Amino acid sequence: MKNKLSQLRDEFLRQLTEVKDEITLRELELKYLSRKGELGVLLRSLKDLSVDSRQAAGTMANEIKQELQDKFQEALKLFSARQTKNIPIDVTLPGAKMAFGHLHPITLIQNELEDLFTSLGFMILDGPELESDYYNFTALNVPASHPARDMQDTFYIDKKNKDGEYDLLLRTQTSPMQIRAMQKYGAPLKLIVPGRCFRNEATDARHEHTFYQMEGLVVAKDINFANLKSFLEIVGQKLFGPATKLRMRPKFFPFVEPGNNGEYTCFLCQGKGCRVCKNTGWLEIVGAGLVHPSVLEAGGLDPEVYSGLAFGFGLTRLAMLKYGINDVRFFQSGDLKFLEQF
Ligand code: DAH
Repeated sequence: MKNKLSQLRDEFLRQLTEVKDEITLRELELKYLSRKGELGVLLRSLKDLSVDSRQAAGTMANEIKQELQDKFQEALKLFSARQTKNIPIDVTLPGAKMAFGHLHPITLIQNELEDLFTSLGFMILDGPELESDYYNFTALNVPASHPARDMQDTFYIDKKNKDGEYDLLLRTQTSPMQIRAMQKYGAPLKLIVPGRCFRNEATDARHEHTFYQMEGLVVAKDINFANLKSFLEIVGQKLFGPATKLRMRPKFFPFVEPGNNGEYTCFLCQGKGCRVCKNTGWLEIVGAGLVHPSVLEAGGLDPEVYSGLAFGFGLTRLAMLKYGINDVRFFQSGDLKFLEQF
């Protein structure tokens, strides 16, 4: 048996030196190494031997099997490497298409506004999405029992702060960064805060639990309503074109006084009236006003010395208007059929 085994081994190795391509190599594998190949037949005949000789022959057979398989694999590698090298490249064939990612429509709007505001000398700040009750409401002139809290219900976190109170929530607006920025940088100050906000909404085509805003704050000495108006005019004209007009209507926001809704002539119908502006010719775009003295105080500034203007856009709303998207839920859906249109 041992003789037969070493003969087989020598024969295999000799033939291996003559192999010229992968096909003949595979034939060799079939002849010797496959289940029905010569080595397999020998291995199966081991059972007919006496116990003693079976053991010795078995060890040898296994060693040889391993050796031949290793040699075969080595040769196989060599041939497949050669083969890939020899494949001619046809440069006229169309290449494999690369899948490029692209920006989300809200990011597009955000980038556009960031360019505009940095060109006007604003800095861009980021703020925490998990905010405290204090920054999101109280410091913005909305104390615990204030009815204005009802307009902005949100998701509260089931964890106590170091004073033993449940006061963490998902921010409902980017406005809390007004306070944080004043506390950190003092005055004068010019900043925007783009970011994600959350509200506990019954979702439908116009309401979503997650959306994007952009806050703006300017603090200096002698900021007045005329500054706010001319500033919002410039922003509107940059955003929607030079013919855009602004109208300001009073609206209550607890952290500004007076508070306003800034409306621009509808960029779709140039103010003539259409479905999007509900035939009014105007689009409500921005909440704004002069910073309330209590808010300046909460920010650590003296309202007798400093004054400010603040404004807030819905980035999600702007994207809906600009791209004609009629359901807010698309933005968070991750639906490629939607996203790939931008
Ligand atoms: N935070 C307000 C909201 O979410 C928007 C807003 C209105 C921001 C007036 C302001 C402002 O800074 O002055 O409804």
